[in-house]
Amino acid sequence: THRDVHFRIGVSQCSDDEWRHQMNNEMLREALFYDGVEVDIRTVKDDNAQQIEDIRHFIQEGVDLLVVAPNEAAPITPVVEEAFDRGIPVIVFDRKILSDKYTAYIGADNYELGKAIGNYVANMLHGRGNIVEIAGLTGSTSAMDRHQGFVSAISPYPGIQLLAREDAGWLRSEAGERMDTLLKRFPEIDVVYAQNDRMAAGAYAVAKQQGRAEEMRFIGTDALPGEGYGVEQVLNGQLDATFIYPTGGDRVIQIAMDILNKRDYPRETVLGTSVVDATNAQIMQMQTSHIATLDEKIETMNGKMSQFFDRYATQQVVLYGSLLV
Ligand code: FRU
Repeated sequence: THRDVHFRIGVSQCSDDEWRHQMNNEMLREALFYDGVEVDIRTVKDDNAQQIEDIRHFIQEGVDLLVVAPNEAAPITPVVEEAFDRGIPVIVFDRKILSDKYTAYIGADNYELGKAIGNYVANMLHGRGNIVEIAGLTGSTSAMDRHQGFVSAISPYPGIQLLAREDAGWLRSEAGERMDTLLKRFPEIDVVYAQNDRMAAGAYAVAKQQGRAEEMRFIGTDALPGEGYGVEQVLNGQLDATFIYPTGGDRVIQIAMDILNKRDYPRETVLGTSVVDATNAQIMQMQTSHIATLDEKIETMNGKMSQFFDRYATQQVVLYGSLLV
C-alpha cells in the first residue's frame, strides 16, 4: 500500500512540558510530508536512568535514526555513543552531549542566548542592581551555557551583582521553593533571571504571595505562544521580557530525511533567538495564533487526503473485483 514504512525514527525527549509538546507536534506534522516515515517519540520526566532505557530500547529495536535531547550531558553521553558506534545516525538537539559521536546537532546557541539576556538586563538596570538567577538542571548543557553567557555579559559592570544562582531543575514548583529561600535571604532583589518561563512563573507567584513582586522585574526564556505561556506572561506584565528558544521540530525531521536519504546536511544547525518584551509581544501573539490556525488547516488537509486515498484504494479493489467476474 501507500503506507509502506521505509524509515523508523526514534525520538528520545528528556522532559514532558509545553515546549516539548510543541516540538513533538512540529516533528509529527513535518513527517506527514514524507512517504513511509514513522516517528516514535518516547518521553521521560527529567530522569537520566529512564532516558538511557528509552535510548537502549530504540537501539534494540533497530531504528534507522535516533533523535535525542539529552537530559543531563554526562550520564546520557555513553548510551548515545553506543548508538552511534553501532552505526545508527544520531541527531542531538536542544541540549548537548560531551562527545563528538553524533551525526548532527540542531539548536539555539545557549551561550549567546545567556549573553543576550545579560546585556538586556544590564541595560535595564543602567549598570546597577541585584540579580538572582533561577537556573535549569545543573547537568544540562543549556543551563550551563546560559549561565556562562549571562555572567560574561554582566561581569563588566561593577555595580551589578549576581547574588545567587539556584538550580530549580527546569520546573515551576521547584522554582517557587527556591524563590522562597531567596526572598528570605535577600532584602533587595531588582531582577529575577529565570532560565525558562515556567520557572519564572513559579518564582513570580511566590514573590507575589509575599507582596514583593512589585519590587523586582522578571526575565524568562522560551517565549511560547498560547494561554499562560511566555508571550502572555509578558502581555500581562508578569515578565518584563522573555527570549525565544526555538523548538525547530520541522528542521529536525528535514535533516533526519537528508541523512537517511544520503543527501548533504549541515552538521551543526544554529537556530536563532530574539527578545519578546512589551514592544512586540502583541504582534507576536497575533502572528503565532495565526500560524496555529494554519497548522490546524495543514492537519485537516492531511486527514482529508488520506481519507481520499483510502477510498480510492477500496474503489480500485471493487473495480478489479467486478472486472474479474
Ligand atoms: C523544555 C525546556 C525549556 C528550556 C529547555 C532547555 O523541556 O526545559 O523550557 O528552554 O528545555 O534545554
